[in-house]
Amino acid sequence: MKANFWLNKTVIITGATSGLGKAITKILLEKGAKVVAISRSEESLKGLKNELVSFSENLFLIKADVTVKKDCKNTFKIVKDKLKTADLLINNAGVGLRCEVEEIDEIDLRKVFDTNFFGAFYMMKYGISFFKKIGKGTIVNICSLGVKRPVPFTAGYTASKAALSTLADAARLELKKDGISVLCAYPGSISTDFRKNALGKPYPENEVRLSRLSPEIAAKRILRGIEKGKIEIYTSKKDYLFVLFTRLFPKLSERVVEKAFAKNRNN
Ligand SMILES: NC(=O)c1ccc[n+]([C@@H]2O[C@H](COP(=O)([O-])OP(=O)(O)OC[C@H]3O[C@@H](n4cnc5c(N)ncnc54)[C@H](OP(=O)(O)O)[C@@H]3O)[C@@H](O)[C@H]2O)c1
Repeated sequence: MKANFWLNKTVIITGATSGLGKAITKILLEKGAKVVAISRSEESLKGLKNELVSFSENLFLIKADVTVKKDCKNTFKIVKDKLKTADLLINNAGVGLRCEVEEIDEIDLRKVFDTNFFGAFYMMKYGISFFKKIGKGTIVNICSLGVKRPVPFTAGYTASKAALSTLADAARLELKKDGISVLCAYPGSISTDFRKNALGKPYPENEVRLSRLSPEIAAKRILRGIEKGKIEIYTSKKDYLFVLFTRLFPKLSERVVEKAFAKNRNN
């Protein structure tokens, strides 16, 4: 990573108290950035504060639920009042859903869209107004590798991330003239509580996956992608090559996935 890229930058991040969000928060603080960490839970925010006590000067906590529009609006008001400025918004909060399409519970699907799509949309909406006023800013949406190569059992979840990815791709074009960049990360599997917290059916032990990274490695690679100004960030070479393969040979890619998941059919 470039030595001083993050020094004194202010980053607002949702879902900062666990998994990938926590790993990103930690690295940013170590790099000298100020972090505005968002979570729905007062308790997990306190836990984060205790864990990162040596960085307390640069760590700001906001209790907010991204599915609540006024919480998102209020977040930017707090940032404006307390910090005056910010450089980046990372839409990381998210929830999984594992279920075949026919059996998806509509209530679960709405919950997933409320968090993964509408939550990120509200944050983008208020973030854009905020960044326009200061004349610059970067918005990073944590999507999923599944957007680029959908796989069985995660259609509902992936659809919410695909909607977010498309929203971001169009926003990027609208906002270039305002000095605002919009990027998306498409991580593959990461070892976090994501599967435990997911709605729908439990993930099988022998889940099919292309790769699985630690949150620290995924976080590092995402931050490196942001530094490089990439518009699509992948967290492993294997993932990137499989996306390329899918673009070039969509039918063949589908056959590979179908075969790999055939084993999981009864889980
Ligand atoms: N793990 C993977 O394999 C994987 C792969 C691709 C993409 N991703 C994406 O990576 C992101 C991070 O996931 P993770 O793996 O770190 O999972 P995680 O450990 O379950 O973390 C999810 C985070 O989202 C927050 N969150 C959920 N609903 C929220 C809401 N309504 N408002 C505010 N925060 C909310 C949670 O915080 P609170 O509960 O404290 O509010 C939690 O910190 C997600 O967007 C996920 O879709 C994960």
